Amino acid sequence: MKIIILSGSNRKSATSTRLAAIVGQLISQKGHTIQLFDLFQTPLPFYSPDGVDQDHASVQQLRQAMLQADGIVLASPEYHGSISGVLKNALDYLGQEHFRGKAVLSMSSSGGAVGTSSLLQLQAIVRNLHGINSPEWISIGGAQRSLLVEGYAGYEGGGQDINDRIHRAALSFIELAALVRGN
Ligand SMILES: Cc1cc2nc3c(=O)[nH]c(=O)nc-3n(C[C@H](O)[C@H](O)[C@H](O)COP(=O)(O)O)c2cc1C
Repeated sequence: MKIIILSGSNRKSATSTRLAAIVGQLISQKGHTIQLFDLFQTPLPFYSPDGVDQDHASVQQLRQAMLQADGIVLASPEYHGSISGVLKNALDYLGQEHFRGKAVLSMSSSGGAVGTSSLLQLQAIVRNLHGINSPEWISIGGAQRSLLVEGYAGYEGGGQDINDRIHRAALSFIELAALVRGN
């Protein structure tokens, strides 16, 4: 299957993007094709209902990748109890044609111990877009984030609890994605 991971931080060393990369690696090890769309690396213009920027190359690239995907992973930092502005902006360019009949895994990184507020809001957006929310989600928060900073060597050995949770959620998402796509 083709899986797109949309990472919604506008920060170079974002822990949510690092989480996205780790989940991508796990899914790829299961034989699936991964595309990580990092909104820091590929910023989008502000969405306007007037239709300006609809032909923007990065917008078209995102829409094409989302159309072709069999499953979707969304990653966001938790901002003010919600998702980041850049991720919401990207989602505003998308519609039911990109999400319908596809499993979606939501993930967040928060300053507090858990970031379920942003995850709940992300799942509400997915429901509105007719995506199928994976029953598991991933929240990384507080000191746990140190396990995800770029170059940190202790991920495999240093955070068994998080490690197990990430593996469990990623595998359950892939099982759901395969089920709904008839694979
Ligand atoms: C504008 C802003 C708002 C934030 N709001 C919250 C919040 O409501 N709850 C929380 O736990 N952390 C909050 N944080 C902290 C971030 O969630 C935390 O630093 C997160 O790990 C950032 O993710 P990143 O590493 O992917 O950039 C906020 C940070 C910023 C910059």
